[in-house]
Amino acid sequence: MKPANARIAQISDLHFGHNVQAVVDTLLVELRDVAATTIAVCGDLTQTAGEAEFRAARAFLDELPAPALVVPGNHDLPGLRLWSRFTRPWRRWRQHIGTDPHGTATHTADGLIVVGVNTARQWGSRADWSRGRINAGQVSAILEAFDKAPEDDLRVLVAHHPFLLTRSAGNRGLVGRSDVALRQLHGRADLLLGGHLHMAYSGVADGLVVAQCGTAVSDRLKGEPNSYNLIEADGDQLTISTRRWTGDRFDTHQRTVYARDGHTWSTV
Ligand SMILES: [Fe+2]
Ligand SMILES: [Fe+2]
Repeated sequence: MKPANARIAQISDLHFGHNVQAVVDTLLVELRDVAATTIAVCGDLTQTAGEAEFRAARAFLDELPAPALVVPGNHDLPGLRLWSRFTRPWRRWRQHIGTDPHGTATHTADGLIVVGVNTARQWGSRADWSRGRINAGQVSAILEAFDKAPEDDLRVLVAHHPFLLTRSAGNRGLVGRSDVALRQLHGRADLLLGGHLHMAYSGVADGLVVAQCGTAVSDRLKGEPNSYNLIEADGDQLTISTRRWTGDRFDTHQRTVYARDGHTWSTV
């Protein structure tokens, strides 16, 4: 099997209920224009896990021009509706999105394997329950899926919470147990895609490329415009372009190139 030649669009933090319709409409056209072959949706599809929000998210997913792998975020849980949060936290997710939030989702294409994992939790040991966590069983399931793929395949993990912070995001938390997960994924995975911070950047952590993107279509901006990442895999090279909303279209704001030796990556 030859290495991947794919165009992955990474979109996140759609927050339907707080979406800007002009950005939604333009993004759908944009994803068609850039000929994305796979779309990774990194969670927070809704603002409060409301019924109408999930319906709008579902309608958006149905319009996507390529196969999508979708994972939940903390906003896709019933927030402070504590009865629902503890008794049936994923009812609407299952009903509208249709995937098992306790399993791992997998998408394969020529030279590419994409695995999705749910890092959102209905409660946590920290005061801030939004932070999320990845547990040992999830890491085992991810590695099992990757290990079944041909050796040269590009191995992509999609999650909501971040495995890498920049200085400007330093007051935010990494996903719980990120250090353990990264050690186990080292040399056995290539690319980790996340959201949650509403900030776009990429870098290398433990030899893996980590790409974060901004809120794709919502007005919940954290100091930067709406954005998504276009990730072009060409043989053993990855080019990550952050495409930012300029007011009437998406434009490339930053482009970074990474190369791999085996499954260990560095910036070119
Ligand atoms: Fe978010
Ligand atoms: Fe989030």
